[in-house]
Amino acid sequence: MAKYKVTFMPHNKAIEVDEGLTLLDTAERAGVHIDSVCGGEGLCGECRVQILSGKVEANTDSIGFLSADEIKSGYVLACQTKIKDNLDVFVPAKGRAEEMKIISEGVPAYSSPARESLHKLPSDPARLFEPLVSKLYLQLPEPTLTDNASDISRVTRELGKKLRYPYFETSLSCLSGLAETLRENDWKVTVTVAKHDGMGRILQIEGGDTSADSYGLAVDVGTTTVVVQLVNLKTGKVVGVEGSHNLQARYGEDVISRMIYACNKGELEPVHKAVIANINNLIQTLSKEKGVDVNHINSIVAAGNTTMSHFLLGLMPCAIRLEPYVPTANIYPQLLASEVGININPHGVMEVLPSVASYIGGDTVAGILACGLADGPEVKCLIDVGTNGEIAIGNNDWIACCSASAGPAFEGGGMRWGMRATKGAIERLAIADGRVTYETIGKAKPRGVCGGGLLDALYELAKNKIIGQDGKFNTSLRDKRLIVENDVPQYILALPEETETGEAITIGEPDISNLIKAKGAMFAALKSLTDYVGMSFEQMGTIYLAGGFGNSLDINKAVAIGLLPDVDRQKIQFIGNSSVMGARMALVSVPAFEASINISKKMTNIELSNYQPFMNEFIAALFLPHTDTKLFPSVKF
Ligand code: FES
Repeated sequence: MAKYKVTFMPHNKAIEVDEGLTLLDTAERAGVHIDSVCGGEGLCGECRVQILSGKVEANTDSIGFLSADEIKSGYVLACQTKIKDNLDVFVPAKGRAEEMKIISEGVPAYSSPARESLHKLPSDPARLFEPLVSKLYLQLPEPTLTDNASDISRVTRELGKKLRYPYFETSLSCLSGLAETLRENDWKVTVTVAKHDGMGRILQIEGGDTSADSYGLAVDVGTTTVVVQLVNLKTGKVVGVEGSHNLQARYGEDVISRMIYACNKGELEPVHKAVIANINNLIQTLSKEKGVDVNHINSIVAAGNTTMSHFLLGLMPCAIRLEPYVPTANIYPQLLASEVGININPHGVMEVLPSVASYIGGDTVAGILACGLADGPEVKCLIDVGTNGEIAIGNNDWIACCSASAGPAFEGGGMRWGMRATKGAIERLAIADGRVTYETIGKAKPRGVCGGGLLDALYELAKNKIIGQDGKFNTSLRDKRLIVENDVPQYILALPEETETGEAITIGEPDISNLIKAKGAMFAALKSLTDYVGMSFEQMGTIYLAGGFGNSLDINKAVAIGLLPDVDRQKIQFIGNSSVMGARMALVSVPAFEASINISKKMTNIELSNYQPFMNEFIAALFLPHTDTKLFPSVKF
């Protein structure tokens, strides 16, 4: 088979591959990211690239996504185009993943609600800081004729004085070589123990005192990003944090596309391996940056939605997608991290925080743990705004939850100029007197608009009466920025001379409709859940807001467009990446980990896909801010 050299620009990365491979697969092998929202199915049109030189074989079915100008300029869909020649390929700015803004932490670790709720955990306060895996230095008494207990009994006897676990489980790997280790090290050893099912699980016995070298990882396995925190298990302090774009995006931007990829093609392995590679890369970077030997990392707690947890563990998630939506497991066993290919100490263990249902996962449980929703009698609310929005309402007695598919609009998906929160994305925007002012991530020239900027745009267009409350443009308005292109009214957010590509960045009626549907789905889910538990918004205490928006979401604007309820703004509090925060709490505190299991068992999931009140609420919410203006008394357009 012929081999060809493909060079991707502007990265200037070249790779030699076999004839017939798709450009999308070639880019992946070259380490070049191209947006592939539908996972390479030819359904989204997001993987546009430009052929600068060379011949390709393009699937003609895909040209419907390309304009006549694009076809003339050599644009193709990377997933539908095969290599036939040496090629130079240009990846346009919008399709590149660059310097993603990753919400790796919410609020400052030691003054956060998370920290406070950790302090409020029930039971013995002395046990609050009790990592899931501990390293203990033991000086054992030498055996005598009157005390000739076995070597391992000698170890567990001493261990029992320090850890009040009823039983210690050992493995053959701990026993082999133990006799020599004890005698060669003058009966001084360090034992690594994991709490498991109420017992101690001895993971490793090393000679001498290595107890200071004890690290763990808190991992947020998000659909869009993966975040890893390296935590010193002697102090509980975060030593470093790294995040990256989820490499699974190659198989689809959202969980549904990835499930379709894994299930329809029988290709679970690459999707599983992609997230493992993600985590391993981040571990390697952290280990190098912070000078921590990976062998000193002995534990991981990961949190993710149910599908991500399945992919992480290499479990087929097919039944999650199909009615009646059944996951393989909600509570996952403790396993050796090496079993799934994660490179830490080979004896190190991994826990995955429990899920509740197919669309309420360990990330929501982590969020509840982090914000302390289940700690006291006051009823509070947690809203995680995203492609799949999750909502939980409850207290220490009960928790009701639901999830709603808001679609990818909040992450810029399915929008003409939408993009994820990466360098060059407009994240804040205001319109006054026909002028648009904006801020971009990294202060770069604008390349597109991310979720925060899109919601700002929606609000500003409505406030300036450029669109009506139904989201339709007021075409009788005299405004130079209001144009009609291919019969679609559009508003220019950034002029051609301001942008990286030299093209105007616009927002059109279909984009606005997608945004209204997304905010409508989130609000309808929240309203359905509050009605289900028989409460009004005013009766609830704090409303915690988690998710990728981070602090780039303007609360007043989010209320004005009807995404968030019209309550006292002081009650709404950002907590950022509550998933990684909850994972860290569980990593450093056995009571917090046990609380996560109890929380998951306490949660009642309301399945909205068959829930008629949700459908009615959704229709009512497709207006700015809502068809029922009494729900938004403070909002005036
Ligand atoms: Fe190529 Fe969707 S059309 S990834």
